Amino acid sequence: MTTTGKNLPAEEEKEATVTAMFDRIAPRYDLVNRLMTFRLDVRWRRKSIQSLSLPNQSIILDIACGTGDFCRDLEKDGFTPFGIDLSQGMLSSARTASPLVNADALVLPINNASIDGVTCGFALRNFVSLPPFFDELSRVLRPGGRIALLEVDKPSNRFIRLVHNFHFGKIVPILGSILSDGKAYKYLPESVAYLPEFDALKEMLSVAGFIDIRKQKLTSGVAQILTATKPTN
Ligand SMILES: C[S@@+](CC[C@H](N)C(=O)[O-])C[C@H]1O[C@@H](n2cnc3c(N)ncnc32)[C@H](O)[C@@H]1O
Repeated sequence: MTTTGKNLPAEEEKEATVTAMFDRIAPRYDLVNRLMTFRLDVRWRRKSIQSLSLPNQSIILDIACGTGDFCRDLEKDGFTPFGIDLSQGMLSSARTASPLVNADALVLPINNASIDGVTCGFALRNFVSLPPFFDELSRVLRPGGRIALLEVDKPSNRFIRLVHNFHFGKIVPILGSILSDGKAYKYLPESVAYLPEFDALKEMLSVAGFIDIRKQKLTSGVAQILTATKPTN
């Protein structure tokens, strides 16, 4: 994922820069998230959990769990979640009863075929590389296990895309600079450039061994959920 942009770090600095940025914005992360998405992020996480289509009590790993939003929703729905994140600052600001571990999504400290499902919210853009991440998902999931990856997206409708780009490109950085850290909230909209198109993501997931790979558009295409299954044979 080699990408250039004013506020995008070079590949070799990406992990350290992104982790330090989330450490900085952690205390106000939830507040800014709710404001900048008009609380739609809450609805999108709920849809992601539903799209796992797993029975309750399933063991779900929430990767890049941040402040624990997914874990809290998974707990409420009767799942057995635990979270992993690279930013100690985000974990320290988390509000969840689920166990949380400070670890890298690309090197999961988890046994092979030991979990039923994975959720991951708004994090694909932040990883240094996606193929090793998808390989890790395939390794830790049991056969029949499911993933639901929630991410932002680019709306295909021109008008919606204009409004959306204005909101994320202009309003969100101002909001971020008033309430949190302006540079971070310039990075977040720009980091969409790191996200491959669905066909490329589908190919990567397929190479990692997943089947039944689907994309669900959310809210006129401003966000998306990618779901896939680890085959049983
Ligand atoms: C935009 S936040 C999303 C937090 C949460 N998932 C949510 O839905 O709000 C992205 C998260 O990814 C984490 N992250 C970035 N790179 C990571 C990595 N390599 N391994 C684990 N977590 C990582 C960051 O620390 C941050 O908490």
